[in-house]
Order: sequence, then C-alpha cells, then structure tokens
Amino acid sequence: MLGLGRQSKHMTSQPIRFLLNDTEITLPEAAPDETLLDFLRLSRRLTGAKEGCAEGDCGACTVLVGRLRGGVLRYEPVNACIRFLAACHGCHIVTVEHLTPKGAALHPVQQAMVDHHGSQCGFCTPGFVMALYGLWMENADPSVVEIETALQGNLCRCTGYEPIVKAARAAAKAGGQAMDALARERDAVAAKLAAIPAGADVSKDGKRAILPADSDALAQALLDNPGATVIAGATDVGLWVTKFLRPISPAIFIGHLMKDVTVSDSEIRIGAGVTYSEFLPFLAESMPELTDYVERIGGWQVRNAGTIGGNIANGSPIGEMPPLLIALGARIVLRRGDVRRELALEEYFIDYGKQDRAPGEFLETVIIPLPQARVAGYKVSKRAHSDISAVAMGIQIREEHGIITEARLAFGGMAGIPKRAHLAEAALHGRPFARDTFEAAAHAVAGDFQPLTDWRASAEYRQAVAANLIRRFWLEQDGEPVRLSRTVEA
Ligand SMILES: Cc1cc2nc3c(=O)[nH]c(=O)nc-3n(C[C@H](O)[C@H](O)[C@H](O)COP(=O)(O)OP(=O)(O)OC[C@H]3O[C@@H](n4cnc5c(N)ncnc54)[C@H](O)[C@@H]3O)c2cc1C
Ligand code: FES
Ligand code: FES
Repeated sequence: MLGLGRQSKHMTSQPIRFLLNDTEITLPEAAPDETLLDFLRLSRRLTGAKEGCAEGDCGACTVLVGRLRGGVLRYEPVNACIRFLAACHGCHIVTVEHLTPKGAALHPVQQAMVDHHGSQCGFCTPGFVMALYGLWMENADPSVVEIETALQGNLCRCTGYEPIVKAARAAAKAGGQAMDALARERDAVAAKLAAIPAGADVSKDGKRAILPADSDALAQALLDNPGATVIAGATDVGLWVTKFLRPISPAIFIGHLMKDVTVSDSEIRIGAGVTYSEFLPFLAESMPELTDYVERIGGWQVRNAGTIGGNIANGSPIGEMPPLLIALGARIVLRRGDVRRELALEEYFIDYGKQDRAPGEFLETVIIPLPQARVAGYKVSKRAHSDISAVAMGIQIREEHGIITEARLAFGGMAGIPKRAHLAEAALHGRPFARDTFEAAAHAVAGDFQPLTDWRASAEYRQAVAANLIRRFWLEQDGEPVRLSRTVEA
C-alpha cells in the first residue's frame, strides 16, 4: 500500500476520537497533515478561530485543549493552525464558540474585552479571548507580568495591548470561574476522555497517522516504519506542512507519550514528550534562575505544545534548549526497539542537519544533572517573545576557594550545531573567579566559532554578542544588576 508504511502486528486500526465543545467526534479516517484549524473552519464551520499566519506566531487561531494528566483534566491554549487533527485524540477541544451559548450573555472575558475596548478590526480578538480565558480559569488574580506572559503568543496590530491587559484584569475581578461551563462539566468531560481508548491508527488519501498507545508500541511502530515522521508538539513539523507543503506520511504522533518528570537529589529525568509548560514548575523548583530563559521560548501556546525532546531531536543550530542543557552536562537516552543507549547531549549533534540517531530510533529521556555551581542561560533575539534567538548561551561555572574548577559554555546560533566553546572554557578553567578571567574568556570565544551572517544577525554581531554574554555573566555574578527583559509591574 503505497505511502502507508508497514502495518505493525502490534497496532490495531482505531479511529481518532475527541470532544469538540459539546460534541463527541469519531473519525475513522484522517490524514496526518490535516490541521485542527482546517477541520474546525472547513469541516465544522466553526469560524471563530482565525488563520493569521499559519505558523504559530500570531495566536489568532488559539483554542483550548483539555487533556487528562494523571487523572486531572487541564486546559491549555494552543495554536490550532499547527496542531494536527490526529494529535487531538483523547482531548477536549474548546473553541471560542463554546464560551457563549446562543442567547446567553457574553462570557466575563468577552464582556471585559467589550468594556475596555480590547478590539478594533477584531481579527485577533477570538485568539486573545481564548488565551485570556485559559488564564482566567487557572489564575483568579493575575499580575500584569502574568497577563503579558499569557499573551506572548497573541499579536494585535490595531488595538494595542493596554486595553487588552485592562480587560484581563477586569475579567479577573468579575470572577465566576466556578460557574463556568468547563468547571461545571469537568467531571463529566474527564470521564468521557478517560473512556477513549489509548492509541489510534487512521488513514486517508493513502496517508497514515499512527498514535501508539504507549512507549513500547511507539518503539514497535518505529521499527516497522523507520522512515516515518515522528511528531510530538508539531511546533516545528506543523510548519513543514503549512509553509513548505512537505509530505509527512506515515506519521507517528507521540505528543501524548513520555510525559514523566522525576527529580532526585542529583538529577532531573524528563520524558521526551514533556512540554515546556509541563517542565517549568520543576525548573522553578530546582533551578529558578533558568525559568526566565525557558519562559522566553515561543509564546504560551507554543510552550503548551512544544516539547523539550522535539527541540533536541530537531537538531536546529538555533534551538534554545540544547546550549543550556549542554552547559548543564545533560545526557540523553535513545531507544530503538528494546535497545537503549545513553550519550552526552553534545555528542548527539554531529554536523548541520546531521544527528546521531539511527532509523527506527527515538529520543526517550533527557537527564539533567542538578548543578552544584553557578548557572545561567541567555537569549538575544529581535523580539523578546515568540522569536528564536540570533545567539543563545548556556553557562555553568563551578568555583572553589576563588578558583574556577569547572567551566561549561555552550552556544546556539554560532555554528551549524549547538556547540561548546572550548577555548573560552580553557580561558576560565583553573583561573581566579575574577573580572579579568571572564574578560579573557570573552576574547577567547572569538576563536571558537566562525558564525554565519543571515537574516537574524551578521557574523560580527554574533561574535560581539557571544563575548558580551560572557561579560554579562560576570557582571551578574559580581552583583551588578543586568536586567534586560520583562515588564516592570505597574
Ligand atoms: C511561533 C514559534 C516560536 C518558537 N520559538 C522558539 C524559541 O523561542 N526557541 C526555540 O528553541 N524554538 C522555538 N520554536 C521551535 C519549536 O517550538 C521548538 O523547537 C519545539 O521544542 C519543538 O518541539 P515539538 O514537540 O513541537 O517538536 P515537533 O515539531 O513535533 O518535532 C520536531 C522534530 O523533532 C523530531 N522529534 C520530536 N520528538 C522526537 C522524539 N522523541 N524522538 C525523535 N524525534 C523526535 C520530529 O520528527 C521533528 O524532526 C518556535 C516555534 C514556533 C512555531
Ligand atoms: S494562525 Fe497565526 S498562530 Fe495560528
Ligand atoms: S483588533 Fe485588529 S489585529 Fe487586533
């Protein structure tokens, strides 16, 4: 069967099933490249969610996705334009149409947007309403910073953000969360989602989407279909389809798998399917100084879908987790069938577009040693949010009795792969923990890389930034405030 890949004897043919607002959806047929946004707008005529950019940037397509995690139902805003329909299996999809049943008064979030003039042309408005709705349900009294963080992934080009932030505050004051439909129906929805069998396997027009029920089924599906496209959060793969029209069949969806995070005295182990939003509470607990860095990856919607495993496996030279994780000394576990191997993360990146991953193999776990040292992560991008960096740096410095005993610096955006700066490390190692030492490292880093000039930045700019980030680390450690980002609370 051309294009379908080999059917595994471990897989059974099962439809995609999910809840869409109040309706139970069963799809015996679906192609892996059908987006949720197209399904909503073209098949269901739910046209509230808009298509602005079709690449996860503008938030006009925002919907809520409710998923059971450890038996608890949680709703999060995601971008429907780069969410594939197959990945909705077992979820509750909530669109803006669900907020106000016909004839009912506007939802408090919508009313606040009206009262505070939060809309002009209105194209972005349903997306803002859904992001604010997600915030309103989970945080009854958000600060301005929290509101802005929730809106990082929503762009408005005519109203401006101040009225929208005011609307968010007014909606919080209006309250009513306990009376909201999603709160009232939570138990019933959770029971319906729990009854949906794990796993699905559907095809349409000769294209196949496989959702393995668990990691063992995933291992088998990849052995049977070694050329399949692995899709986790689809915040990279989604664009391959919407922007480059690339074929992705057969596709194996894994965003629902490998979700465990375990923390011991010495390390954090993260399943490859853990999203940024799922990881952040653990990071805040164990390495709070790094949360700012991760909160600047994408916007809220992207962090709710994008996985740390996807950021690594993608192998992009500008992915932002690898430099930080390499600096932290992270290791990864790759699995093929029942065989697992562990390697240092930096060894995974061989060359531009080339990673140490065999056909049929997948990334299963990321192991991060808990640092007993000073750590930092810096990102320099044109926009503060929803923008990938021109240069990113992860740094870990261990100092004993005033002498640097370990230095790990890794950069993104400086080479064809995320890479350590060995010359800069050598300039630090064994030297006094002092300004001159960091100044020497800032000079040495010029020899570590020959960066490219591209539309994000020139080679000269990248070299200057790399050196300045090393200086910045010293200034911060020396007690000089270097605050370059985040809103000051009003
Ligand atoms: C608007 C927007 C903003 C963004 N901003 C940033 C940013 O600031 N910083 C940044 O670093 N990135 C950013 N990204 C890129 C993207 O969000 C991240 O790279 C994300 O972590 C990818 O994870 P995913 O789960 O969505 O991966 P997917 O898109 O599902 O997959 C990415 C790649 O990894 C492979 N893959 C995924 N999981 C596995 C696995 N377990 N084993 C083997 N292969 C696997 C896939 O086959 C594919 O090749 C942004 C993307 C968008 C759309
Ligand atoms: S249409 Fe712009 S984020 Fe989806
Ligand atoms: S109201 Fe027009 S883009 Fe936001």
